Amino acid sequence: MNSPHQAAVLTIDGPGGAGKGTISRLIAERLGWHLLDSGALYRLTAHAAAKHGVMLDDEPALARLAETLDVTFLAEDGTTRIMLEGEDVGTAIRTEAAGERASQVAALPAVRQALLARQRDFRQAPGLVADGRDMGTVVFPDAPLKIFLTASAEERARRRFLQLQEAGESASLSSLLKEIQARDARDMQRAVAPLKPADDAVELDTTELTIPDVVDHIQRLLADQGFIPSA
Ligand code: C5P
Repeated sequence: MNSPHQAAVLTIDGPGGAGKGTISRLIAERLGWHLLDSGALYRLTAHAAAKHGVMLDDEPALARLAETLDVTFLAEDGTTRIMLEGEDVGTAIRTEAAGERASQVAALPAVRQALLARQRDFRQAPGLVADGRDMGTVVFPDAPLKIFLTASAEERARRRFLQLQEAGESASLSSLLKEIQARDARDMQRAVAPLKPADDAVELDTTELTIPDVVDHIQRLLADQGFIPSA
């Protein structure tokens, strides 16, 4: 399935809070590659549903919304502004509640199908870092390098707690842990594109690792496989 005409793709999958977002962004920046934050597309679909009064169990209407999402990702000084129908929704779609709603719409097969072509369009030269749950298994099964990042649920809850604290938001560690466990269960048990490592993915447990450790490790793997020059 590997086509010489297609740009290289590095897929980074794993549960929420394993560090995928930060690590994918840093690697894309280092390599000058494009970045696909696929979770944002599910979050945006749920957000658009609320805006247009579509119920989260109306699968055909949600799929239509997903297919026609009017979204622009604007890269700006190390961050990305996310515009939905001209409105900056970057903060609104990052809340725990928005993640929960995203996980509900992500369980619907027609929504996943509707977002497939849009995700594949991100694959452009010189390369793509694709961050999500099913990047290596479904969206880019021919990706030459696939990473599956994990961390214990306790560590992921702790990281999220610190992030929220830094943002000046109140949070409870024990309720964050419960939410993370519930979202993991839904993402792993759904019938379509469940969260699981691709057979050919490299699994990396980040519980005891720092972000620069993980970025260096992935960069070495890319260099070993000849996608980038050795450092
Ligand atoms: O990665 P993020 O937390 O933004 O994803 C939000 C939700 O979107 C996840 O909990 C998951 O249910 C869903 N998702 C997915 N497939 C992806 C990316 C995200 O099902 N490729």
